[in-house]
Parts: sequence; C-alpha cells; structure tokens
Amino acid sequence: MTERLDLQGRHLVLGLSGGIACYKSAELARELVKAGATVQVVMTEAACRFITPVTMQALTGRPVITDQWDARAPANMAHIDLSREADALIVAPASADFIAQLAQGRASELLALLCLARPRQGCALLVAPAMNREMWSHPATQRNVAQVVADGALLLGPGHGAQACGETGDGRMLEPEELRDAVIAFFQPKVLQGKRVLVTAGPTFEALDPVRGITNLSSGKMGFAIARAAAEAGAQVTLVAGPVHLPTPASVSRVDVRSALQMHEAVMAVAPAQDLFIATAAVADWRPAAAATQKIKKDGSGRVPAFEMTENPDILASVAGLPAGQRPYCVGFAAESHDVVRHAREKRLRKGVPLIVANHGPATFGQDDNALVLVDDAGESEMPRADKLSLARALVAQIAQRLPHAHT
Ligand code: C5P
Repeated sequence: MTERLDLQGRHLVLGLSGGIACYKSAELARELVKAGATVQVVMTEAACRFITPVTMQALTGRPVITDQWDARAPANMAHIDLSREADALIVAPASADFIAQLAQGRASELLALLCLARPRQGCALLVAPAMNREMWSHPATQRNVAQVVADGALLLGPGHGAQACGETGDGRMLEPEELRDAVIAFFQPKVLQGKRVLVTAGPTFEALDPVRGITNLSSGKMGFAIARAAAEAGAQVTLVAGPVHLPTPASVSRVDVRSALQMHEAVMAVAPAQDLFIATAAVADWRPAAAATQKIKKDGSGRVPAFEMTENPDILASVAGLPAGQRPYCVGFAAESHDVVRHAREKRLRKGVPLIVANHGPATFGQDDNALVLVDDAGESEMPRADKLSLARALVAQIAQRLPHAHT
C-alpha cells in the first residue's frame, strides 16, 4: 500500500518553548515530515536547554531559527517572513509561561513575536500545552488558555497521565502521533461541522455457550476510518463497535458492544438525536435462540449438538424506520461476493435507505484498502481502490452533499 501523504504541500512552523516535552517534539517533527509537510523549526532559548537545534535540523532538513536577530532572513525580519509562508504555526510544547506571553500579546522572543505577527487569516495557531498538573490547573493558566482560545488559537490537548515530575494528572503534551493526526484533521474540509454522526463498525459475536460463538470476518477498519473522517470533518461522532482490536479515533465517543442485540440497543438509544447514521457493522443475521449457560461438552458419542437459531433485528432498517424528525440520514453498506451492484440496489429498497455503499466483501475484509460503489436513486458511482481512510474521507464528502438541508 502506498503511504498517504496527508500533509503534502503544507508548510508548517513548529515552535518549541521550554519544557521536558521537547523530547517528543523531535518525533513530532519527524512525523510531520513523513506525512509530507515541510517543517521550519523555531526554538526559544529555554527549549534549547532541553533539546538541541542540531536534532531538529537533522530531522527537518532545515536550519533551526532561535533568534529574532538571525541575519539569514533576507530583510532580517524572521518574525514576518516565517509566518507568511506557513499554513499553520504549531507550538509544541507550549509552556505555561509561553501561553501567558501569548495571552498578553508579548513579543520579547522570536517565537512569541512570530505568533503575534502571523497573518491570522492564512496561518492558524495550534497550541499543544505541556506542563505539571498544578501549573495547568492554576487559575492563571486557565485564564490565559481561555484568552488564547478566544483570540483564535486551536488548543491540542493537553493529555492526562503520568508526568515527568512523577505526578499524575492533566497537563501532559499529547503524543507525537496524536499531534500529527490533530494537525492533519485541522486541514480537512469541515463538511460535517456541527453534525451528529452515528457509526456502527466491526462484527458482532453471538454466544453459543460461555466459550463459543458465531461471528464473522470484519476487522472494523472501514467503520473506524469513517468515524475518524467524520470527526475530522467537524462532526460529533458516536461509534458503536463490536469486538475489534482497534484504537478509538481522536475525539470520537465509543460504545463497545458484543452481540447484535446489544448493538441494536446502543444504536436505538441515541439514533433519534443524530443527523446521520452510517451502518458499516457486519451484524450477524442470526443468533442461537438460547445460549447455553455452561460449556457444551463433547461426550465422545459422535453426536453433534443442534442449535435453534433466531433472526437478529436489522439495526439499519430499524433506524431507517424511525418517524420523520427522529430519523437521521441513513447510509448502509453491502459487502457481496458477486453481483455487487444488483444486490446493493435491492438492499437499498428493502431497507428503505437513501444510500448504499457497496463493496466486494472478500476483497476488503481485513485489508487496508478497498474500492466502493455508491448506489442511490440517481444510479451508481464508483470510488476507485484506495486506502480506507482516503476512501472514508471521500465518502464523507459525498454524504455531506446528500444531507438534506433541514438537518443543517
Ligand atoms: O442485510 P445485510 O447484512 O447484507 O445488510 C448490510 C447493511 O445492513 C450494513 O449496513 C449493515 O451494517 C446493516 N445491518 C444492520 N443490522 C443487521 C444486518 C445488517 O444494521 N442485523
């Protein structure tokens, strides 16, 4: 699979203020470069105490700027030139002192000066705080952070957990991969801004007895990619997931379930409040009519147990059948092994949904890429094979165009 270059063509200024989290900024710089960005690092004097500019230069392939009197800038105006070329300025780590400087519009060091002098329309300011939990929760810091956000900065984190000082709490800088993904998300078009989106993903597991069950081949990757893409597009996303081993995408609220009945219940509890429902889960069609409470034993007689099965509720059809006003726009998936489009058309009518996304089941299960066909009342359109996140983003854009205006 080819590597996605989510930050291709983006020029970023990465600013480091003083804090132990500077060690993570080296990895962040590397991740941003790997995602296709060009990265210009600017460091405060305090940051240079924690990590050397040599490291950052080697990782970004550009000399680091630490001084507002740096004579390399053509007109000797580094504070102006640097941000004019940048798509975003990311301060990571942002120390308590640095945030205080931002809040007051102070400009005694190059990095603070750069933040103040940046063109606010063209160059966003992303701030990733990193400090001890007492410093973070101090009213002065909270006041300053609120001011910086009110002035238009986007706050990334902070995270919660063990701190370098040995304490545990809020104030950790987000991990480099989390920050990279937040930067990538920032640049995605906000086509679902303010929408509420519900996604089902993964398989279900229908218990036969306490140790056995019926499930199916679904990795959950497509549904998780869609949840991530919807969140990147500005939606408030709830992800109801069957048993899968996948990390929860950033800012997505996740509900874990096991059986189809549990998934049905979790979905119906929140569906009426949603603008959009995307059912990607591979729900088991049937479950044992009664699960044995004890493990079914092999008795050596050669007799095999017989199970009476009963049908599971169709979650997608249940949501699509909600009364108008409580019914989100519904999107179903159809994984077929043959006659993909014909089956998808039939499924669309049978389930009463406006849009079905069809794919070739055996070619997608567990894979990192996929190809889709959109089937709606206007006909079919193909989305060529790509990695699942790229497809999910394209699909979210397609769905956003179809959302009725009444929901906006
Ligand atoms: O009927 P079939 O399983 O092929 O339909 C697939 C679509 O319906 C998917 O969107 C799937 O998530 C949804 N579905 C559901 N509840 C079921 C079965 C399928 O939501 N019990």
